Amino acid sequence: MKSTQLAHQLVSDWLEGGDVVIDATAGNGHDTLFLAQQVGTDGVVYSFDVQQEAIRMTRSRLEEAQLSDRVIMCETGHENLEEVISAPHWGNVSAIMFNLGYLPGGDHSITTLKETTLTALRKALECLRDGGLLTVLCYPGHDEGLEESVEVLTFLESLDQAQFLTTNYRGESTSGTAPFLVSVQKCSE
Ligand SMILES: C[S@@+](CC[C@H](N)C(=O)[O-])C[C@H]1O[C@@H](n2cnc3c(N)ncnc32)[C@H](O)[C@@H]1O
Repeated sequence: MKSTQLAHQLVSDWLEGGDVVIDATAGNGHDTLFLAQQVGTDGVVYSFDVQQEAIRMTRSRLEEAQLSDRVIMCETGHENLEEVISAPHWGNVSAIMFNLGYLPGGDHSITTLKETTLTALRKALECLRDGGLLTVLCYPGHDEGLEESVEVLTFLESLDQAQFLTTNYRGESTSGTAPFLVSVQKCSE
């Protein structure tokens, strides 16, 4: 199974109608659309991207599916998470998806960067509810992505595992450059 499909499977098992969720990297809008479908009419999806083109494509995908009403599009970096998520939602987010790297079919020089990704991951773990799920899809197949993947994995595996349960879905036979998924479950007190 592809890592993108695995991420959707994990998250769909986790969510219920009415949940608040975040797509930290909107890109072409596939993950935002998936999340909007999962949370139902009473749910809220925040969707972040730094590129106007990604925001435009995601909006149009949502409009086509008539699901725009439950999605808040945020044209800013995910490192600014706490400036956007409303106070009642902070600490009550059920799932957050990061799909790192660059926009497929877009400008490959605009990519997620290890410094801002790590800042965003720290904030993401804070705004998850107890029992919430974080998924991070890493792309070590390009130079910046390789460094970022190493730092992301080191950070997520160094978390206190009594509080945050980290699972690395990279198989032993997987090539070093293949995309891989990591999830973190925020444990209940
Ligand atoms: C691999 S794509 C995401 C794919 C997307 N989730 C989908 O379903 O189509 C990565 C996206 O991250 C965006 N990005 C780069 N830096 C970012 C940042 N600091 N905050 C939010 N998004 C960022 C890029 O513009 C790009 O659109």
